[in-house]
Amino acid sequence: MSSIFDKFAPLQEQHASLTALGRSPADIEFQEIISPTEATLNGKRTILMGTNNYLGLTFDDEAVEAAIESLRTEGTGTTGSRIANGSYDGHKELEKELAEFYGMRSAILFSTGYQANLGAIAALAGRDDYLLIDADSHASIYDACRLSDAQVIRFRHNDPQNLARKLERLEGTSGSKLIVVESIYSMLGDMAPLKEFIEIKKKYGAYLLIDEAHSLGVMGEKGRGLCEQTGLEDDVDFITGTFSKSIGTVGGFLVSNLPGLDIVRFVSRPYMFTASPPPSVVASARKTLSKIAGATDLRKKLWDNAGQLYNGLKAAGFELGPTLSPIVAIRLSDSEKAIALWNGLLDAGIYTNLALPPATPFGWYLLRSSISAAHTPEQIALAVDVCSTIGRELGLIAVSNRKNAEEMQVNGAKTLNGASEKRPFSTSEPESAVPTRAGAPVARA
Ligand SMILES: Cc1ncc(COP(=O)(O)O)c(C=O)c1O
Repeated sequence: MSSIFDKFAPLQEQHASLTALGRSPADIEFQEIISPTEATLNGKRTILMGTNNYLGLTFDDEAVEAAIESLRTEGTGTTGSRIANGSYDGHKELEKELAEFYGMRSAILFSTGYQANLGAIAALAGRDDYLLIDADSHASIYDACRLSDAQVIRFRHNDPQNLARKLERLEGTSGSKLIVVESIYSMLGDMAPLKEFIEIKKKYGAYLLIDEAHSLGVMGEKGRGLCEQTGLEDDVDFITGTFSKSIGTVGGFLVSNLPGLDIVRFVSRPYMFTASPPPSVVASARKTLSKIAGATDLRKKLWDNAGQLYNGLKAAGFELGPTLSPIVAIRLSDSEKAIALWNGLLDAGIYTNLALPPATPFGWYLLRSSISAAHTPEQIALAVDVCSTIGRELGLIAVSNRKNAEEMQVNGAKTLNGASEKRPFSTSEPESAVPTRAGAPVARA
């Protein structure tokens, strides 16, 4: 008899062949979380280079204490949605604090960042409206398109002219047009050309929503993100974000200066039909959010660290994302070598994210790191050193780049678990060509 799981046979084969080359990213299990940047993996002390813990605040004493206190006084969960079961004080306070932080009129809290995009976008763009999304959008934005009744149009990644052409074709139509972009793109770390997008949105009378998931706490003098950094906060209609990265917990939000935002609560299914965030999560998010504006030193450290990793890997000869940011991704076109590099790094005690097509732009295989202010220069130097050693052995980078990489190292690599002595994979095949942007999938309006 056939099984309901038969349709997944190709996926299961893919997973099995991935595991046969070492391990599966889905099976990684940390036994002990030592700090924001270290954990044990199968008994081995491992540097965490792929956690999105940008400011390293997951162990912040005050945030931890606030969560513990709230657990004691308010319990472990709300056991229902705010529409059905009412709000807790903390939900309301956090929304007020978010609105104040962004200098905007209102904020709505969601249970995750994924739900914030799903709930905000699907509610804002309804029947007869148009959703214009960047082709490299996060899955939560694509899923919002499925939930929305709007007509969905994709434009080329970070291409304002392509967006303008799509909007031009909509002239004369009556529905609202909502453009959705991200500040820092989660896979390659590149950033939206916000000024150009804003000029186009104004020209065509569209609305603009920006997902600041990876830039909250990371960019701008007060940590409000790309909009703040570029001085364009007044020109953006909606901002979504998450507490799962620099804020170090879980939860999401929508903020806006437009009057009337509150109605979204009554039309957004991911807001109405799911339990509201637990009070302990809200308590720690509030505590951490209150520190973001003043976290200037952490932001500086974060960008210094990002520079050390990005420049070190670039000097070693790796193909990286186009922009320096705390997301540093090595772009590879050979699946076996990408998997070998990822496994080699793990053997050496360094954890990165292995991102595989179709979740990646242009079908690349990505070894993605998200750097933290809590990383030390020694940890980063070690990561660059081990990556370069394995990269040379796999023929991913030229041996002649060794000197460059060594010169880029600030403090010199020190071994952790004997890491840089390990040579787990060896091949001298040259790297095959990386697909170009021209191969990107683009939907037609
Ligand atoms: C750009 C972007 N938006 C939204 C999300 C969803 O956030 P969360 O994990 O908090 O649900 C992510 C998560 O990785 C993301 O990268």
